[in-house]
Amino acid sequence: MNNTYLSMIEKALYSYLPSSDIREGKLIDAMRYSLEAGGKRVRPMLVMEFNAVCGGKPETALPFACAVEMIHTYSLIHDDLPCMDDDDLRRGKPSNHKVFGEDTALLAGDALQTLAFEILSSEKTAALAGDKACRKAVNTLAKYSGCVGMAGGQMIDLVSENTNAPLEVVEELIGKKTACLLQAACELGCIAANADDDRIKAASEYGRSIGYAFQIQDDILDITSTNEVLGKPVGSDDENNKSTIVSLLGIEQSRKLVDEYTAKAIAALGRIGGNTKGLSFFALDLAKRVK
Ligand code: IPE
Ligand code: IPE
Ligand code: MG
Ligand code: MG
Ligand code: MG
Repeated sequence: MNNTYLSMIEKALYSYLPSSDIREGKLIDAMRYSLEAGGKRVRPMLVMEFNAVCGGKPETALPFACAVEMIHTYSLIHDDLPCMDDDDLRRGKPSNHKVFGEDTALLAGDALQTLAFEILSSEKTAALAGDKACRKAVNTLAKYSGCVGMAGGQMIDLVSENTNAPLEVVEELIGKKTACLLQAACELGCIAANADDDRIKAASEYGRSIGYAFQIQDDILDITSTNEVLGKPVGSDDENNKSTIVSLLGIEQSRKLVDEYTAKAIAALGRIGGNTKGLSFFALDLAKRVK
């Protein structure tokens, strides 16, 4: 993790929120609560790293990085709602709806989602990255987070509860609910740097593979970790009778898959050019993560 990027991301993320000294202040407080609760910032870091590999300036990639983290944070707020996974702990704190209520949590997710696109399409971002890159970023992030991306994957996740879904269905749900947003992050980093299509494609392949590895590791940790270390409730998948790779193949086989997808991600870096050593280590660190 590059600590300079991390502090840039944290600072920029909060700067986009209006003051809560307005009638709808509770909504702003709820948005800030989940953003400030922390998290690993994997997706915005990927934006910054790919932008650097492609020769871009950090300040140009920063709004792109914040937009992806806002979409991700919205997805977590909604994922925890009683109508979805019904989880009361997130990022080491009570879930958004436990503090602000389901109604406000729903709106906080909605508003984080639209704020992401407001940032990407703003004059300020266009002045840094150019109109073409901003349009491409809006289209890419919308595609990967929408009905055949993250939201679609969440739908498959829900309809697969209590079904013992086969491997191909579980692979599709992981690919959509989790890998899509990681792909979007990697692509957006390249787009911010005006990289060519070949580089965007290779970055996308890296994102897709670490996405699979990331969700399988998440499903393993749901069984092997603790609430304290993970900052979210373990045993949630079992309680909701989710269809996961681990429920299908067991922990040992799943660990092998994490390593295989990680190796695949690192292989894709060879097609990007530039100094991708940091991204190699990043993928290896994610495969070994304990939270
Ligand atoms: C959690 O993502 C949701 C999944 C896709 C598994 P992260 O593990 O990146 O969550 P934070 O951002 O660190 O809280
Ligand atoms: C959720 O997967 C992925 C999202 C799109 C939010 P999980 O339901 O396994 O994520 P956690 O374990 O609650 O973070
Ligand atoms: Mg879920
Ligand atoms: Mg969940
Ligand atoms: Mg999980």
